[in-house]
Amino acid sequence: DAAEKGGYEHYMRKEIHEQPESLRQTIAGRLDVDAGDVELDVSFPPGFLADLEEIQIVACGTSNYAGRYAAQLFEELAGVRATVEIASEYEFGAGRTPDRTLVVAVTQSGETADTLGAVRRANAAGARTFAVTNTLGSTVTREVDGTAFIRAGPEIGVAATKTFASQVATLAMLAVAVGRDRGALAAADARSVLEDLQGLPGAVQQVLDEEPQVREAAREYRDSEAFFFVGRALGVPVALEGALKLKEISYDHAEGFAAGELKHGPLALVTPDTPVLAVLTDGARADETMNNVTEAQTRGAPALGCVSDGEEYNTLDVSFDVPDVGIVEPLVANVYLQLFAYHVANEKGRPIDKPRNLAKSVTVE
Ligand code: G6P
Repeated sequence: DAAEKGGYEHYMRKEIHEQPESLRQTIAGRLDVDAGDVELDVSFPPGFLADLEEIQIVACGTSNYAGRYAAQLFEELAGVRATVEIASEYEFGAGRTPDRTLVVAVTQSGETADTLGAVRRANAAGARTFAVTNTLGSTVTREVDGTAFIRAGPEIGVAATKTFASQVATLAMLAVAVGRDRGALAAADARSVLEDLQGLPGAVQQVLDEEPQVREAAREYRDSEAFFFVGRALGVPVALEGALKLKEISYDHAEGFAAGELKHGPLALVTPDTPVLAVLTDGARADETMNNVTEAQTRGAPALGCVSDGEEYNTLDVSFDVPDVGIVEPLVANVYLQLFAYHVANEKGRPIDKPRNLAKSVTVE
């Protein structure tokens, strides 16, 4: 066991640190930067993507948050309406045309019962189905029309880390592929996204190199009453994922939401004992988010922010530097939140790789 952890105390920390390498595997041989296109080895019937009306993403837990990130990319890069459903709540829905709908199941294990149930409902409705998974030969791959593998390598820690990053990267490539095929994305714009993806492993490494700063922040705030995570745009799924990670492994109360919602309820819970962690990266409406953070600070809350390199918000109590990688910058910010969750839990001596009551793969509905 110790040898398998490669010198790390926990699989989770090992897997967090594997991200530069797992992301390299995810994108290896798949980016054609010159042509502004990707090679994902997926095929659709002729004309299907051109006529596409909607992409419905179905997933649970962390994979659902990867899906929420991706939905914004599908709309922006592929020019197609994209919705995200919690798999256990999914119904095909009225007013839709099955043969113009693509249902994308995002599932690390490929075995989650809720997600398989959603795929079966989509198939029964006559929609085309697609899986984004880490697991060759998994059940989902046998039930869908096509699959893209995220190639993150085995993940042992119950709390998903490197697979979230590789899911988002794979879905970003899929969004470029769909956008190019539909003629919705110019080659130059595609190229810039592909360059962002190429920069992703190095940017994640830069964040990992800042781990001592995150550990220090975790020590300072570990005993807080609750933790709030906020962001806008691509920062929203990252805020949700940051809160999920912290609650899963530290057992602390953590909530993530769109920063604009703070004033519509959660602000009532804000005190000097409830730190707010914010995604404040370029392109994720950082200034507006910072206005909401300030509202929390006015009530005494400490504020920690993931801020784009070169930007500065002087009033933050802690500022984490995020390298500039465009559309995947919030994904890089997420690595700070993974490290924060890990170190809070570790300071408290929690069983990080096997949190109570949780399973890596949930095969019951
Ligand atoms: C479980 C795991 C989560 C995971 C979710 C979905 O709840 O503990 O980490 O995000 O299942 O799993 P999947 O394999 O479908 O991505």
